[in-house]
Amino acid sequence: QEYVIGIDLGGTKILTALADLEGNILAEVRKPTEADKGKNSVIAKIKDTIYEVLGQTEVAIEEVEGIGLGSPGPLNIEEGIIYHTPNLNLDNVNIIEELKDVGPPIFLENDANAAALGEKYFGAGKDAQDLIYVTVSTGIGGGIIIGGEVYHGASDGAGEIGHLTLLPNSDQKCGCGNYGCWEAVASGTALSRLGREAVKNGEDTLLADLVDDATEVNGAVIAKAAKKGDQVASEIVEQIAEYLGIGFASLINIFNPEKIIIGGGVSKSWPLLQDTVLANVEQRAMEALTAEVEIVTSQLEDKIGVKGAIATALVGLKELS
Ligand code: BGC
Ligand code: NA
Ligand code: ZN
Repeated sequence: QEYVIGIDLGGTKILTALADLEGNILAEVRKPTEADKGKNSVIAKIKDTIYEVLGQTEVAIEEVEGIGLGSPGPLNIEEGIIYHTPNLNLDNVNIIEELKDVGPPIFLENDANAAALGEKYFGAGKDAQDLIYVTVSTGIGGGIIIGGEVYHGASDGAGEIGHLTLLPNSDQKCGCGNYGCWEAVASGTALSRLGREAVKNGEDTLLADLVDDATEVNGAVIAKAAKKGDQVASEIVEQIAEYLGIGFASLINIFNPEKIIIGGGVSKSWPLLQDTVLANVEQRAMEALTAEVEIVTSQLEDKIGVKGAIATALVGLKELS
């Protein structure tokens, strides 16, 4: 039998799955990343998840053809380097080197690029050749597929869309060191921050009743309040939707994609965001380009990261053969 392993390495969790060569998941293991405990701890945990999924299924490591690993970037995918990334507290780790002793070849890919591949092979992108996957969660990441393949750019950094400057005069600092990045003002982190500020500032909002402490305000709480008609929560959702729409319009003008697929935690609130996002897209992207584009949410939900890592392994193996 032949298998692949997919690893979704994120700021908060590591999700590892064993799959067959069709991409069907046979077993999975999840562990908190706890990147603050340092590189060695994270590497050891990744290895533990690999051996645990194998243990669950009694598959031998020799039967694993390849391991795909999706990580926040920027990265050097050939050499296997994870540079200092905005939302993963690891510095210049050579992940391929570190995982070499596990055995199978390791294929590294940016998390959003991997997710774009996951959508192309298993999800909402099956029939599209030109698509952009946008994850809106802790950060904002992008995976650009052109002619059916991930576009990597000159040094693997293509698709770092979260660090487009959206508000040039903003004092909102981004994890990358800049100010006013799209990710700094429109991610899930930004959404939660706006909600927390409203509660801390004593604004008259249902948000304050839904939590014991301002720090508990998150996207789900804001969505709940907005659905109940809370004015403050609705305005926050509007704000994020407007910024998302502005970003999407630029992506459409640059890439003329068939599809934009939105994933990540914030995409769960798509029904609330949709009208304002689409109105901004219509207003700001060129009409000749918006006619064809479909904006949809991911069908793979919280499996998209690991499905993307599996797709990365399958594509990597195809390129090797
Ligand atoms: C990183 C991207 C990543 C995205 C989502 C951004 O901060 O720069 O590489 O794809 O977060 O994790
Ligand atoms: Na990317
Ligand atoms: Zn940034």
